[in-house]
Amino acid sequence: MLIKNCKLIDREGLVDILIQEGKIAKIEAGMEYSGEILDAQGKDVLPGMIDVHTHMREPGMTHKETIETGSMACAKGGVTTYIDMPNTNPATITVEALEEKRRLSEEKSIVNFGFNFGGSLDNNSDEIRRAQNIVATKVFLNISTGKMLIENDEVLGEIFEASEKVMVHAEGEMVQKAIDFARKYNKKLYLCHISQESELELVREARKDYKEIYVEVTPHHLFLNLEEQTQRLRMKPELKPQTDVDAMWRAIEEGMIDTLGTDHAPHTLEEKDAKVTFGIPGIETAMPLMLDAVNEGRLTLAKLVEMYSTKPAEIFNLKGKGRLEAGYDADIIIVDMERRYTLKNEEIVSRCGWTPFDGREVKGRVETTVVNGNVIYSADNEDKFNKINGREVKING
Ligand code: DOR
Ligand code: ZN
Ligand code: ZN
Repeated sequence: MLIKNCKLIDREGLVDILIQEGKIAKIEAGMEYSGEILDAQGKDVLPGMIDVHTHMREPGMTHKETIETGSMACAKGGVTTYIDMPNTNPATITVEALEEKRRLSEEKSIVNFGFNFGGSLDNNSDEIRRAQNIVATKVFLNISTGKMLIENDEVLGEIFEASEKVMVHAEGEMVQKAIDFARKYNKKLYLCHISQESELELVREARKDYKEIYVEVTPHHLFLNLEEQTQRLRMKPELKPQTDVDAMWRAIEEGMIDTLGTDHAPHTLEEKDAKVTFGIPGIETAMPLMLDAVNEGRLTLAKLVEMYSTKPAEIFNLKGKGRLEAGYDADIIIVDMERRYTLKNEEIVSRCGWTPFDGREVKGRVETTVVNGNVIYSADNEDKFNKINGREVKING
């Protein structure tokens, strides 16, 4: 396939992208081609989003989300690779559970995928060592959805020791604890959903002599604040006052934030309304919200691409991902920066069927999503997904 008339963030003028066998073969202006042609019409063409923080809910909680519906939500939201979280049922804390999830994903996901393995309170460090091709070990240091909180420091130490990279759910002073463990065991530390100024301070201080600390921010901590909180808008970490929200935006500008992660954590509205349930969906609204922010001048498109694709690929050594360059995988999105539309519950394809951003008007829309060289979603073709299986991302050595 040839994608014609692409506006890329790092090149002058319009170029064409030649795709062969699922990879980018060549990028050049004015190529001739006799096969399938997709005309980007001068719109922005970007690497697909890589979300390393997705809760797909399968197996075990498929009334909230399935790999099929969740991956369709990815396609619509411009996410071409998602990395699943381990707090499913069964939890992904054994090689057996990982292999089962792998089998289900190969069969059902229409985008590319990968897995975070869970650290468990009964010390599964042997399983962590045996697990193949995992992105990171996810550790919960605060209470959240699922039963994966680890409070025993000895167990925590063994889990850090057994892992190559550790992703943590740590809030407030637990951020410091996570940093201390990473430093002690000399591991790469990825701090999920940092949401407040005091946490940024801890990171700023620690980075002076320990570099392997990476910071993620979620769209909901950028676009919602504590004053707007309702029972539906409960999640861990909770929404923060606007002063913290402002601090997060400033931290993006200062280059302190590495990545954007959705923390897509769907629950049904029935569940959310019946009792306090932590987590909100976000995978299909992340890109439009961020494109809107680019339109408002809050960050550049280049910075956005770095945060949602290039850096996640680099931090986690995701082979062939994160850039539009010859030799890289053809995971590509075409976005229309001028297109205004309203995010609506009725249009959500995630199984949970709602979005915290219902009714919000945005400017900037994902028009086309290409995964491994196949067009799997096109906004003009109203939610008809081309269900071609995605592939598991490979982790470079
Ligand atoms: O609000 C949250 N929901 N925070 C988490 O850490 C987990 C997530 C979930 O799985 O529902
Ligand atoms: Zn979390
Ligand atoms: Zn999460």
